[in-house]
Amino acid sequence: MSSKKERKSKNMFQAPKGTRDILPEEQIYWEKIRQVVQKVAKSYGFERLDTPILEEEGLFIKGTGSSTDIVQKEMYSLKTKGGDRLVLRPEFTPAFIRAYLEDGLSSRPHPLKLYTTGPLFRYERSQKGRYRQHEQANFEIIGENDPVLDAQLIQVFFSIVGGLGLKDIVAQINSIGCRQCRPAYRKKLVNFYNKRKGELCFDCQKRLRQNPLRLLDCKDDRCVLINEETPQTIDNLCLDCHNHFKNVLEYLDELEIPYILNSRLVRGLDYYTKTVFEIWPEEEAGRQSALGGGGRYDNLIKILGGKETSGVGFGLGIDRLVNFIKEKNIKVSSESLPSIFLVQLGELGKKKALKLFEDLRRANIKVASQFSKNTMNAQLKSADKMKVPFALILGQKEALDGTVIIRDMKSGSQETVLWEKVIKELKKRVKK
Ligand code: HAM
Repeated sequence: MSSKKERKSKNMFQAPKGTRDILPEEQIYWEKIRQVVQKVAKSYGFERLDTPILEEEGLFIKGTGSSTDIVQKEMYSLKTKGGDRLVLRPEFTPAFIRAYLEDGLSSRPHPLKLYTTGPLFRYERSQKGRYRQHEQANFEIIGENDPVLDAQLIQVFFSIVGGLGLKDIVAQINSIGCRQCRPAYRKKLVNFYNKRKGELCFDCQKRLRQNPLRLLDCKDDRCVLINEETPQTIDNLCLDCHNHFKNVLEYLDELEIPYILNSRLVRGLDYYTKTVFEIWPEEEAGRQSALGGGGRYDNLIKILGGKETSGVGFGLGIDRLVNFIKEKNIKVSSESLPSIFLVQLGELGKKKALKLFEDLRRANIKVASQFSKNTMNAQLKSADKMKVPFALILGQKEALDGTVIIRDMKSGSQETVLWEKVIKELKKRVKK
């Protein structure tokens, strides 16, 4: 493997900054997560929706919000030859709502439960756990504002991480109010921060004009200190938002989901109303990166041209989940790992083995082979490396006798069986 510097000096191509290749040996994590996501999604009645990677730029300016970091700094925008302004999608939620309105999904029975997995693109400062191309599993429930749905969605997230064998995960949760109560809270915040403007970081001084709620989760030391004294969202909710939030928490208690109330959690997307949440590994809550996050959005569908309709959803960061599974040394088994290695010797052995490989594959036995290697040693070495429990050996003699040798790779013991019995024999052994 040559270094980045060497490749550059030789004018070789590289993956663009912030993107990476997922190598074959890594795929086992991605496959497993996608499998668990699909299984959990189906068990809660979610249907899959795939939207294009390219969308109109305006969809995110209007949907995600023109003053958000995503829209201001992170979108990959392009102008097509026909003059359209498109972007590589930076998130799923506005795209789901566009499809909901465009494809007549709004006339189906509600609530509509939709999910997907796929790549997203954000021109972020690249660092560990933060990539310019990342993948999310995205879940949305559209059409109802019942707080039970907020809680059940958080349960869906926990069912996915639980299905992957991860423990010590905690939800951080807050309510950021609605159209009724937020303007007054916003005013209160602006008054508060205006008095201490000189102490704020440069970004927050700018944000104060456009998006004062975002000041609450600033990580700059100066702002963190000031935020100890800021008026809190939950003390400024209207009765409807207060009751909604109280119910969400009661449902979470009922589901025994561990959560922390975090009054500084506002999330960086403009469409949220009422519940917002993030899911974190317990030991790093707030320090590194959330495994996922989401919330309720009761105005977005109207903003994008539909009728007043509620929604709630979350995005789970698959890259971050992969990193976390690896850090925790969680064993991920792959159903596609072979259990048999087929060794062939001699021209006739190779021919018969080629046919036997097909028979085994059709019988759903996961089999590996190296038909281009001719020595027994080389092939058994590969079988060893793959850690298969059994090898099948088919040489000239076996080909003529219509038999095959089953070798137990651990003990080295061998048994000769007839071809027509080999599948039954293998199934018996692999099951054990
Ligand atoms: P988000 O918080 O921007 O929410 O992203 C969700 C999750 O995606 C994050 O918690 C993180 O795990 C992962 N993620 C985000 N950016 C990156 C990155 N650059 N590299 C690696 N992982 C990343 C949304 O996208 C909302 N659309 C979620 C939602 C759905 N809200 C309602 N419905």
